[in-house]
Amino acid sequence: MFCFVICGAVFVVAAYFYREKIVKGQRCSSCVKLHGKTAIVTGSNTGIGKRTAVDLAKRGARVIMACRSRERGEAAAEDVRRESGSSDVLFAPLDLASLKSVRDFAENFLQSEPRLDLLINNAGLYCGGRTQDGLGMMFGVNHLGHFLLTLLLLPRLKESGRARVVNVSSVAHNWGRVDFDCLSRHRALGRGSSTLDLLRIYSHSKLCNVLFTHELSKRLKGTHVTCYSLHPGAINSEFDRNFSRVLVTLLKPLTSFFFKTPEQGAQTTLHCALQPGIEPLSGRYFSNCTVRNVFSAARDDAAAKKLWELSESMCGLE
Ligand SMILES: NC(=O)c1ccc[n+]([C@@H]2O[C@H](COP(=O)([O-])OP(=O)(O)OC[C@H]3O[C@@H](n4cnc5c(N)ncnc54)[C@H](OP(=O)(O)O)[C@@H]3O)[C@@H](O)[C@H]2O)c1
Ligand SMILES: *[C@@H]1O[C@H](CO)[C@@H](O)[C@H](O)[C@H]1NC(C)=O
Ligand SMILES: *[C@@H]1O[C@H](CO)[C@@H](O)[C@H](O)[C@H]1NC(C)=O
Ligand SMILES: *[C@@H]1O[C@H](CO)[C@@H](O)[C@H](O)[C@H]1NC(C)=O
Repeated sequence: MFCFVICGAVFVVAAYFYREKIVKGQRCSSCVKLHGKTAIVTGSNTGIGKRTAVDLAKRGARVIMACRSRERGEAAAEDVRRESGSSDVLFAPLDLASLKSVRDFAENFLQSEPRLDLLINNAGLYCGGRTQDGLGMMFGVNHLGHFLLTLLLLPRLKESGRARVVNVSSVAHNWGRVDFDCLSRHRALGRGSSTLDLLRIYSHSKLCNVLFTHELSKRLKGTHVTCYSLHPGAINSEFDRNFSRVLVTLLKPLTSFFFKTPEQGAQTTLHCALQPGIEPLSGRYFSNCTVRNVFSAARDDAAAKKLWELSESMCGLE
């Protein structure tokens, strides 16, 4: 009995320690202020995007919350204004599942905003189906929409000096592969709609983010613009909305204990956006506020270039 109590106590203390030290992870330690700077955060009406927007607004940045739903976007912008104490926060409509919407957003932005210092490509989903342009949903939203957005905004980033592009990827990219045959034939990274198929396609789409960042950094050589990709950690957000309900409910006790809060999940994004002196690491991948090495598939120059060229032609950019 005594032994049982001791073991129980040791377990509780160990779990608590694990949660406090390991799960929470490192915090962005930068105290950079952003007065006079402009930031765009995509998919910022909830999750880590919203927490990122609050932090940037607190530091004095003008924050454009680029979200697909006007209703959720306006409500979130109101929350962010209240929580940050800054009134310089606005919603702008952007649906990454429509290349037309991406073009409209960029056109409005370029007409009305004189500068762009931070582009945070945060929006992402795990979901089947097709975009408005008939692309695989995860390829279209997680990769191609952000690809076009970044390219259209690049002139403004370059004009603004030491600007940064931050791409929220995932550790899942390690299991990804880009099947160029499938892309040209089916305009998607994979077929099928089982959970396993969708998880695979999600990993492929996150590999695209890492490859994109790799290629972008090369194309940005000689400018003052730098770019980074990252894994935010495992986070309790709305990200699980299209996972099996049964699974989500069963795992709830574990995930609520061992996953980060969205505020903790935003720290690596903030590190990449704000930490002074990381410019020589442009094109690299971060997690837990630390630069990491990636597997060879994620720094494959030929695949990165091929993906870039295919993406350009799919956006009608050549
Ligand atoms: N949660 C995790 O454990 C985890 C782990 C690794 C990586 N990530 C990555 O972290 C990023 C943020 O995820 P999160 O956990 O904060 O998820 P979340 O709570 O589901 O937030 C995702 C955001 O993306 C937006 N979005 C989805 N489709 C969009 C579209 N077509 N156009 C514009 N915005 C769109 C969503 O808008 P609506 O609310 O309108 O749908 C929402 O604001 C994602 O890129 C995700 O892949 C998350
Ligand atoms: C994150 O970094 C902190 C501080 O270096 C470390 O204590 C923690 O174990 C790390 N967490 C993960 C998940 O790697
Ligand atoms: C990262 O940026 C590239 C191009 O801008 C894009 O293809 C990729 O999907 C982005 N990923 C995310 C979600 O940030
Ligand atoms: C994903 O979940 C959302 C919200 O629960 C739902 O509206 C949408 O139809 C789902 N999409 C798919 C393809 O399952």
